[in-house]
Amino acid sequence: MKKRSGKTVRTGGRARKRTSGSKRGPEDAFNCVFLVGFMGAGKTSIGQALGALLNWEFEDLDDRIERREGQSVSEIFRDFGEEKFRETERTALKQLLNELQGAAKVIALGGGAFVQQENALLLERTGMPTVFLDAPVEELWRRCSEQARALGETRPLVSDFEQFRKRYENRRQRYAKASVTIQTGNRPVEKIAAEIVESLGLKKIAMRVEQGEAE
Ligand code: S3P
Repeated sequence: MKKRSGKTVRTGGRARKRTSGSKRGPEDAFNCVFLVGFMGAGKTSIGQALGALLNWEFEDLDDRIERREGQSVSEIFRDFGEEKFRETERTALKQLLNELQGAAKVIALGGGAFVQQENALLLERTGMPTVFLDAPVEELWRRCSEQARALGETRPLVSDFEQFRKRYENRRQRYAKASVTIQTGNRPVEKIAAEIVESLGLKKIAMRVEQGEAE
């Protein structure tokens, strides 16, 4: 674990306190980052901005789930329920982690993924940092409800503010175990992405070689 600007950065499950002046060398730079936090925290938009800033690939775990299953997340919840969704989510996460192999990647996880203990352990074993994106629960609710309204859809687990708030409170301690916590309320995504880069010492890659492209 490393401390950066008073924030805790865990690496590989080991704990190490940052001594003043200590820096990660190029050989131990992070090449991957996982964004976690409640629905509406901005994991996807901030993840995209962070990917663009670093020239790293961006992936949203929910998109992978939808591609694998040929169904939207809402449809999986509706047809099979939350428990089945969590199984599907875990399988997709394992697949994603197996495919990483040193790729420079920003990964946004669905709001419930990191609070599942088995997933949290899998993530910790990668040695890569997790970033908890947080905002006041009223703001999270407002963003989710507006998004659902704009799309003319209902979102799983977003139907009643009291339940939404309780779920957020129940999960908050788990999210807080992430390597760093960043507040997203009322701030531009580019600023938040820059703060993540700074607090974790992430490095931009000069050029990304796309799959299938000649090096
Ligand atoms: C969920 C969050 C959603 C999605 C699913 C369940 C949750 O992702 O994975 O609806 O349990 O918090 P987002 O956090 O990206 O909205």
